[in-house]
Amino acid sequence: MYRIELFDYSINFGTLPKITHDGKVLIISNPKISGLHMQKLLKNIQAREIYICTIDDGEEYKTMASVESILQSAFNHKLDRKSLFIAFGGGVIGDIVGFSAGIFMRGIPFIQIPTTLLSQVDSSIGGKVGINNNYGKNLIGLFNQPKEVFIDESFLKTLPSREFNSGFAEIIKMAVCFDKEFFLQLHKYDDKNLLDTIKMAVRIKAKIVKEDEKENGIRAALNYGHTFAHAIELETNYKKLLHGEAVSIGMVMANSLALKLNLISNEESQNIKNLLEAFNLPTTYKINNINNFKSLMLLDKKSQNNKIKFVLPKGIGSFALNDDVSDLILDEVLREFA
Ligand code: GLY
Repeated sequence: MYRIELFDYSINFGTLPKITHDGKVLIISNPKISGLHMQKLLKNIQAREIYICTIDDGEEYKTMASVESILQSAFNHKLDRKSLFIAFGGGVIGDIVGFSAGIFMRGIPFIQIPTTLLSQVDSSIGGKVGINNNYGKNLIGLFNQPKEVFIDESFLKTLPSREFNSGFAEIIKMAVCFDKEFFLQLHKYDDKNLLDTIKMAVRIKAKIVKEDEKENGIRAALNYGHTFAHAIELETNYKKLLHGEAVSIGMVMANSLALKLNLISNEESQNIKNLLEAFNLPTTYKINNINNFKSLMLLDKKSQNNKIKFVLPKGIGSFALNDDVSDLILDEVLREFA
């Protein structure tokens, strides 16, 4: 089995192996993944007792109420500090389960088994876990590394194409900020290269996280497109766009700012947009109200002293952080999307 080591755990690639645990296990999933793949997972787990908890699917359920229902289930089944949570689903499940595991009895281990492309390449890697509230996205959370991650690309066969493409937004994000060669390879992507593409994205992510686990520096670049995307998701109540789709539009918005600040050329900006569109990702959006949109952007965790910190591409393969963008320039960018 191919492995990438991160801190003291492994990210394992390939057919899901046997998972043994000397204690109780609570698998948390959503109804869809549970219906499609739970039998396969159950066959692979050996533990004292195994329980299943399902929570509704979708970003709007990444809430304290879902955390409560996981904790209730864990208490009902008398899980203890030797127990294990397994997150079985996409990014929403991974984030809620990692957070719940971090606070249940002051912390028990959890395993990530991501079943979407986006969670396999990004959200299951690196220990950022949390939930949303009415102030914004991922504003309540922890850095809590999993005990292990299992990436079995066969789960992706049942993924709807919109969700599959959404994962490519995060892959393209990593290529633009960190690896020009990978960016060029993505132009020649073919389904045969799926596993290699996932491995490449995970290698990049693991390297960044190893260097800067708590996001004091370079890890912030993994938020390229996200400051705009989170405002889009809030403005649309998480209902219209998938996370990766909002990130795709967010990267185009960030590129427009980068262009005005002479960080990228017109051609580079167009190349990124073309690549996003090649994966059927949206690149246009109509902002409802510019002032409101800016206040939603300010809710981003990177904001400090009422200043938004932007992650911007610097050519292809590099990035810049800028928390000193004038209102005038930002308004110009936002007006392009209004
Ligand atoms: N998805 C951004 C990060 O893990 O830092």
